[in-house]
Amino acid sequence: MIKVSVVGAKGRMGGNVVNAVNDASDTELALALDAGDDLTRITPDNTDVAVEFTVPSVSLGNVLTLIGQGVDVVVGTTGWTDEKLDQVRAALAQAPRPNQSVFIAPNFAISAVLTDHFAGLAAKYFESAEVVEMHHPDKVDAPSGTAIHTAHTIADARKAAGLAPVPDATETDGGSRGQTVDGIHVHAVRLRGLNAHEEVLLGNPGEQLVIRSDCFDRGSFMPGVLLAVRKVSAHPGVTIGLNNLLDL
Ligand SMILES: NC(=O)c1ccc[n+]([C@@H]2O[C@H](COP(=O)([O-])OP(=O)(O)OC[C@H]3O[C@@H](n4cnc5c(N)ncnc54)[C@H](O)[C@@H]3O)[C@@H](O)[C@H]2O)c1
Repeated sequence: MIKVSVVGAKGRMGGNVVNAVNDASDTELALALDAGDDLTRITPDNTDVAVEFTVPSVSLGNVLTLIGQGVDVVVGTTGWTDEKLDQVRAALAQAPRPNQSVFIAPNFAISAVLTDHFAGLAAKYFESAEVVEMHHPDKVDAPSGTAIHTAHTIADARKAAGLAPVPDATETDGGSRGQTVDGIHVHAVRLRGLNAHEEVLLGNPGEQLVIRSDCFDRGSFMPGVLLAVRKVSAHPGVTIGLNNLLDL
């Protein structure tokens, strides 16, 4: 059994993680902590892996504390910068246990991560490529970080294959062609009833390939979180992105 403590356990994601850890047959809940709780209660005696889903302003401090406590950490909180990651790497270099691990995933949804991966594989075979992301209207940023990442993945694959820019005769736009990310148009739809969805449209003369991911609720993240809990200790140091754990 993998002993898991959850930090941010009263939050929407943390609450789902508590339930997922209780429900899985190979994990057991150690501590469920939230704001105001003492994270130094988490030790290697009671915890193998700490899962951190809080808010960007406190996440770095929590992760540094957890590293100091000698446990592996899985992080879902967003807002990581190169500077913050450097601090995590420096803390790991001084960690109490050898080969301690921190795993950070900007997106734990396996379908979203595979959409990005498959788009990267397919991109070089198509003349045109566009990304459409669709979310609930309460999301404050647009386009989504995941869609921006997918656009870069497609652009990198096109550049590596020596493809010309995507064809587009548009002369006057007015915003309807979306945001151009690394030469790839990215469109954002905000619609009540949706959760988190992404389509990659790839076009050639006479054919289209659509790669689509639909995350219907927060449960969509739990298989990815549990995968990270199971695999984090096999990846010493800092690992970023669920794609690194999927044997792709
Ligand atoms: N990586 C992913 O796939 C993914 C998916 C969804 C959300 N997120 C991110 O996860 C984070 C949490 O999202 P949420 O919807 O659960 O937010 P939320 O506001 O529902 O929960 C955050 C929780 O953190 C707690 N908290 C605040 N400060 C704390 C501290 N110092 N120590 C311990 N707990 C503290 C809060 O009390 C709250 O219970 C956000 O950054 C969000 O963007 C990531």
